Amino acid sequence: MLANARRRRKISYNKRAMNHYAALRRGLEKRLPDGLILLSGGNPITRNFDVDFAFRQRSDFLYLTGVEEPGCLLLIDPAKRRHTLFMPRLDNHHRVWLGDVPDPKEAKSLYGIARVLYADRLESELRRARGRYRKVYADAEAYKRAGKILRLANRGAELRDALDELRAVKTSGEIELMRRASAVSGRAHMAAMRRARPGQFEYEVQAVFEAECLRAGLKHLAYPSIVAAGVNAAVLHYHANNSQLKDGDLLLIDAGAECGGYASDITRTFPVSGRFSGHQKEIYSIVLETQKKCIDRARPGVVSAELHLYSMTIIAEGLKSMGLLRGDTDGLVESGAVRLFYPHGLTHMLGLDVHDTTGGRKRRMANPTKVPVRFVARLEPGFVITMEPGIYFIKALLNDRPLRRKHRDSVDFAKAEQYLDFGGVRIEDDVVVQPDGPPLNLTSVPKEIDDVEALCER
Ligand code: GLY
Ligand code: MN
Repeated sequence: MLANARRRRKISYNKRAMNHYAALRRGLEKRLPDGLILLSGGNPITRNFDVDFAFRQRSDFLYLTGVEEPGCLLLIDPAKRRHTLFMPRLDNHHRVWLGDVPDPKEAKSLYGIARVLYADRLESELRRARGRYRKVYADAEAYKRAGKILRLANRGAELRDALDELRAVKTSGEIELMRRASAVSGRAHMAAMRRARPGQFEYEVQAVFEAECLRAGLKHLAYPSIVAAGVNAAVLHYHANNSQLKDGDLLLIDAGAECGGYASDITRTFPVSGRFSGHQKEIYSIVLETQKKCIDRARPGVVSAELHLYSMTIIAEGLKSMGLLRGDTDGLVESGAVRLFYPHGLTHMLGLDVHDTTGGRKRRMANPTKVPVRFVARLEPGFVITMEPGIYFIKALLNDRPLRRKHRDSVDFAKAEQYLDFGGVRIEDDVVVQPDGPPLNLTSVPKEIDDVEALCER
């Protein structure tokens, strides 16, 4: 057992991975050279009595170490260029119930960190290091543990900002992990598309998707899978996943696994029967055209909010052509009429978190558009972002009296009501912004109507 466990770990922490994490730590060390840097890894969270929730390492800690074990800390002493990983000293009780964990010597070669000590050495190490500094950059949990010993001013907000700044631009090593997450999730989407049938329940399709990820060794999902048939697709973060699939329904699956902590976030919408109806094709085509046009424009210098605005105009044009909206397109976008059918953002950053850091203080900017949107940043090479337009028929919006009054001249509500059992369509890919030209698309799941129908052949 033990030998197996070691072999498994050796495979995942190869030399390249070690260099990758060491380089990211050096990046932080250079960004904050004038203070000790102390980060806490995650700790197990009790679910009940002696049972914990499944452990997932904190994203910042994964970013700097790749260590997936709970209870660790990382100390960076920039003056000495010394990086120390502290690990819990686990007893036999732990070994009996949860298995072996590497000792510091094993952990050194496993994680490629030059110094690995048991966490009970933290205090003496901090006492030795603190004299060289007047401040510490510690996260809240680490400072709670070390503040009294260090007696240095904590610049926790600056640490947060530095990490946000660094994590925004992905290195080639990070993109490689995201490529793997995307490839496995892509295969899982295709398996689900092939195997979904009328009469199944949403959770059965979820099981197909998640089994494929697990089989590939990716045991964490980046977020709870959304498997939404028919009207359920109009619930943006639907999670019940317990309805039956009907012939004639569309099925929306928004799901992604993570690899080494790095997320994929992919959505496909396809007909349960294997063939799109006329209406379904019409709406799907608008969303697909919007997505492809927006992907092409995702280039350095473009502001994410402007791309969102652009996506709203294409969707407004499409809904006008269907007779659901009427009037001047810019007016429909500005008044919020389009938002009745497309009430979420086009894009968000993707990384160790599915809704990842937006890039830190230096990148913060005012929204140059009049359309409210949460993610506002000027795109840079190395940003990984999603592209996910959608059209939905949401009862809560289309039946809302004040909204109906406000938009009565621009929305054909009688027509929209005919679609109340339609649900919605969303198509989502993950792309890497390139120095020149269009972005690199990490997602390779079919999305053209013919290709989707061919894959869903029943
Ligand atoms: N995948 C869910 C979201 O982006 O909100
Ligand atoms: Mn998303």
